[in-house]
Amino acid sequence: MSGSDAARAMWEQRFGGEGYHYGTDPNGFLGEHEPTLPQGSVLLLAEGEGRNAVFLAGTGRDTHSVDLTESGVAKTRRLAAERGVEVHAEVGDLAVHDIGAERWDAVVSIFAHMPPSVRRDLHARVIRALRPGGVFLLEAYTPDQIGRGTGGPQLPEMTMTLAGLRDELAGLEFVHAVETERDIVEGAGHTGVGAVVQVIARKPG
Ligand SMILES: C[S@@+](CC[C@H](N)C(=O)[O-])C[C@H]1O[C@@H](n2cnc3c(N)ncnc32)[C@H](O)[C@@H]1O
Repeated sequence: MSGSDAARAMWEQRFGGEGYHYGTDPNGFLGEHEPTLPQGSVLLLAEGEGRNAVFLAGTGRDTHSVDLTESGVAKTRRLAAERGVEVHAEVGDLAVHDIGAERWDAVVSIFAHMPPSVRRDLHARVIRALRPGGVFLLEAYTPDQIGRGTGGPQLPEMTMTLAGLRDELAGLEFVHAVETERDIVEGAGHTGVGAVVQVIARKPG
């Protein structure tokens, strides 16, 4: 039994139906800032049913994704095939999954909420996994989201803050770093004004 078993069961159930829980269009923040990401190779963390990976593959990037769930990865592959793009989608537990060293021109993390100890360790590995000049893009809910009923985790420790991310990602150069509110209508899973933190940060070199 691994620490991720309960999360896996919950997400497998959520992704088990026919539809796409967060829709098939990309996350709004990623869609807006995609031109700031380098071309080349990109890894999407906790990519769910594949909407963001399929979008980035359509921009010509060598696109890889990891998610905890078999159902999410199967849907990622299906959506990529339907759209005629290639995504290298893998099942993996990011608590232990090897994301490599100086491997990626960009790493993308959209609503990849995990327990704090897993997240902190993963972010340290993201820094290592980026190539010099590589860019990390993240959007996540903040503690202000709790109780709004518009999506996101219900445990404050699973959310993220800008101060926490500045600490966890020390060594990267932040080019966009805000806590804000925005209207997020992305499938049935995210359904209204949400409190988010957004980061775009570059590895020096
Ligand atoms: C809110 S969904 C976001 C999905 C996708 N990034 C999107 O924006 O559509 C959170 C995702 O985190 C994944 N996840 C949670 N814990 C994980 C872990 N330890 N390793 C890999 N993926 C994980 C879940 O399977 C789920 O797909």
